[in-house]
Amino acid sequence: MAKAAVLHYSCSECGYSTGRWLGRCPGCASFGTLAEEASPAANAQAEAKPLLRLAEVEVNEAERIPTGVPELDRVLGGGLVPASLVLVGGEPGVGKSTLLLMALAAISRERRALLVTGEESTAQVKLRAARLGGAEQVEILAETNLEAVCATLERERPDVCVIDSVQTLYSADVGSAPGSVGQVREAAARLLRVGKEAGVALFLVGHVTKDGSVAGPRVLEHLVDCVLQFEGDRYHAHRILRAAKNRFGSTNELGVFEMTGTGLQGVPDPSAIFGRSEGEVGAAVACALEGTRPLLLEIQALVSPTDLAMPRRVATGVDPKRLAMIVAVLSRHAGLALGQADVFVNVAGGVRIDEPGADLAIALAIASAARGAPVRAGTASFGEIGLTGRLRPATQAERRAQECAKLGLVAVLVPGGTEARAKVELVEADTLGQAVSAALKRAKKEAA
Ligand code: TYD
Ligand code: MG
Repeated sequence: MAKAAVLHYSCSECGYSTGRWLGRCPGCASFGTLAEEASPAANAQAEAKPLLRLAEVEVNEAERIPTGVPELDRVLGGGLVPASLVLVGGEPGVGKSTLLLMALAAISRERRALLVTGEESTAQVKLRAARLGGAEQVEILAETNLEAVCATLERERPDVCVIDSVQTLYSADVGSAPGSVGQVREAAARLLRVGKEAGVALFLVGHVTKDGSVAGPRVLEHLVDCVLQFEGDRYHAHRILRAAKNRFGSTNELGVFEMTGTGLQGVPDPSAIFGRSEGEVGAAVACALEGTRPLLLEIQALVSPTDLAMPRRVATGVDPKRLAMIVAVLSRHAGLALGQADVFVNVAGGVRIDEPGADLAIALAIASAARGAPVRAGTASFGEIGLTGRLRPATQAERRAQECAKLGLVAVLVPGGTEARAKVELVEADTLGQAVSAALKRAKKEAA
């Protein structure tokens, strides 16, 4: 009797695999995400392989390929490594196709650059390319069949190829629908092999939803050389590119772009673009560290009375748990009555910060909104808030303070004990309560 095809169930959120169907995924606790998939073919008989010592391994120190987009080069660690596999994740509409088409256009001047498009027609791509300019030499293939794409790569051997997107590729060998975990994983694994053999550096575009999940990108992270995340929401002009994983460089680098009518423009001095509020109620300037770069960000807060038993704490660009903590510390240790108020916090420019150094500015924005008093003009702040209401110095204080000085701020409010030499007045505060009165003091007097 022929052996029946083995089925298994795989979670579209986290890739968890199990032999029977379950309503709730044991891997990530999501409901209704397990879907049927055919098991991959059993491994063929393998034979033993000879071993090498590391000293005998030949390293091909091939030069990196400049992508023509300095911000992208920096995030990649100094250009694209030949035959590497880079995953570029981001929400739909953030600008992944635009960024990569711009890179292909620059690369195509000296090398062969191929765009495999599964989402847009060749005509649509051409229209986009016309807006960006300089992409005439980019080669294009509209194809979603994985075998056809691999065969083309083997024959043509371009230096760089963009697959837009990995979720559109389809292999008949895998028994599930395009975009499923099984398909995406198979596509990435096959492309990885072909790319390394044919010497093609590959960018895989992967769509990610708001919470960073959904079939694809997440399950590929271990497989690829680099994972780049492209963020910023489509209603704001600014975009941030960061490396979540990089086998060839640091994950600390960050690229900032502005979306314009003619594509993405790199922003070499990001601090300048993020609004610097002067004396507005409910706004405070944070000097947050993103990678190796200090960024000046405007934090905005709105505090409004509510009758809700559970007042709302809504965070955009800030971790909601962090916001809840800061609100609690403000209530308990800085004498701010927030129990009957909704608190909204937003980071201007569509930027996301997840660095404790921004705590103090978030707290000051909320305090300013609650008290109806602006933060002292020309004042930025950075520092971490502890649950006891004490402030703790943030890392790389000197860099941050110097950045504030460079951008014309007059004072920086910092936790006591912060050591930084910079041409700004350092105003020290040991507790959150002291910081709030120091930051709002002058403005309150002026108002009086
Ligand atoms: P796109 O690169 O298609 O996003 P993704 O591939 O991540 O889904 O582009 C996103 C948006 O950028 C799109 O809504 C239109 C806008 N855009 C510009 O503002 N200027 C431009 O020059 C281009 C090409 C796109
Ligand atoms: Mg796209």
